Amino acid sequence: MSVVRPHGLPNANDTAYGEARCPAPSVQEIITGDKFPAPAVLTQTNYQYLGSEEIGFERYYDQSIFEAEIDKIWGKTWQWVCREDHIPEPGDHYVYEVAHLSFIVVRQEDGSVKGFVNSCLHRATKFRKSEGCGSAAALRCPYHGWTWSNDGALKAVPNAWDFPHVDPDKFNLPEVRIGHWGGFVFLNPSSDGPDLLEYLAPLPDHFATWDMDKRYVDLHMEKELPCNWKTAQEAFLESYHVLETHPQLMTGVGDANVQYDLYGDHVSRFYAAGGVNSPHLAKPLSEQELIDQMLVGDRSVLDDSLTVGEGETARIVMARFLRKVMGDKFKVDLSRFSDSEMIDTIEYHVFPNMVLFPGVSLPMVYRFRPIGMDPNRTLFEILFLRPKPDVGIAPEPAEPVRVREEESYATVPGMDAAMGAVYDQDTDNLRAQQQGFRASRKGRQTLGNYQEVRIRHLNQIVDKYLKN
Ligand SMILES: [Fe+2]
Repeated sequence: MSVVRPHGLPNANDTAYGEARCPAPSVQEIITGDKFPAPAVLTQTNYQYLGSEEIGFERYYDQSIFEAEIDKIWGKTWQWVCREDHIPEPGDHYVYEVAHLSFIVVRQEDGSVKGFVNSCLHRATKFRKSEGCGSAAALRCPYHGWTWSNDGALKAVPNAWDFPHVDPDKFNLPEVRIGHWGGFVFLNPSSDGPDLLEYLAPLPDHFATWDMDKRYVDLHMEKELPCNWKTAQEAFLESYHVLETHPQLMTGVGDANVQYDLYGDHVSRFYAAGGVNSPHLAKPLSEQELIDQMLVGDRSVLDDSLTVGEGETARIVMARFLRKVMGDKFKVDLSRFSDSEMIDTIEYHVFPNMVLFPGVSLPMVYRFRPIGMDPNRTLFEILFLRPKPDVGIAPEPAEPVRVREEESYATVPGMDAAMGAVYDQDTDNLRAQQQGFRASRKGRQTLGNYQEVRIRHLNQIVDKYLKN
């Protein structure tokens, strides 16, 4: 495969800042050729020029900036904790940790959910030592046995005669706000600020027909990355790196012509056309060749329906094929999905740390969180959310599988080898980048005005929260 390396030198007089685009057809132009048209929410663009100033690297490693982020971002924003399916029954709980913060989210008798600080009011021991699912009739401290009901009311104090100064009415567990959207349980440690749906806007409107609540966790992988939480997610906010980092993706994804959109403080979007040639390909594949090479890993599925007919594109054929194959596999009717929803990479970011893909064949959710008090450590999770069957019961959420830094994601049972290799390429850059922040003499990054606007957006919102 030969590629055109567009390594010219920039010319400041070319265009007004932020107005230049890759000369190849845009995503909006590409989707007009589809047979089943994309929904209205995908036919809009919402880019905004946010400036070209350089951004300092200290924000990725400085301890005092990191600790300010814990107080002002992790202590004050909405963050998803688990899927509703992780805590289906009363008494089920999920422990969620970020930096030094720890919370326990508990399903109540009436089906609602409450969230508490995971720390005993006696001498602070955590009720549960580590992240994840559990179930209990009450929250009992493992050290001295102080016990709270699952609704947070103090229930029992061993040797209560020694604590006449403890008023049970004033010893409820401190609560955090809980919200629900798309089959996810969210929490916000702070009682101030917007409610969840206002915070997420316009995401709930965009996802109105995407039924995130009708998905189940088919695969859950996690890896500790040797970098800052912002470094890690920035690797997934732009497609500019595909040419150098994932050259194997260029026969099938429009990388340089990805669309980038910004929506308020908390949401941004990346929209990449699938089933097309990269604008960098020196010899673009024919529509039939695009189909043939997409299936290179699975020749067994080749059949007549994969022939590109008169007036068809590779996109139309691939979407039709996946609608059938994935519909059969997951026992769900996919006929209502447009070609774009079937095959494109549609990725939303929700501040501070959620990435989600509403598409049917790329149904991932990512989460990025600082581990402990070290600005150079991040827990990165990848979940695949598959459609629940139209009839019958969906499988229980998959258990998280922890992969070591040097281990391939492809080793996780159920993980597609080619996709595992893409994630390996993504995360393999991060240790070197984090070290480069410290090695740099320039000390500041220079971002593309269009392709890297979501990185600038993320950092501008970080700065906004830090100023409050
Ligand atoms: Fe990547």
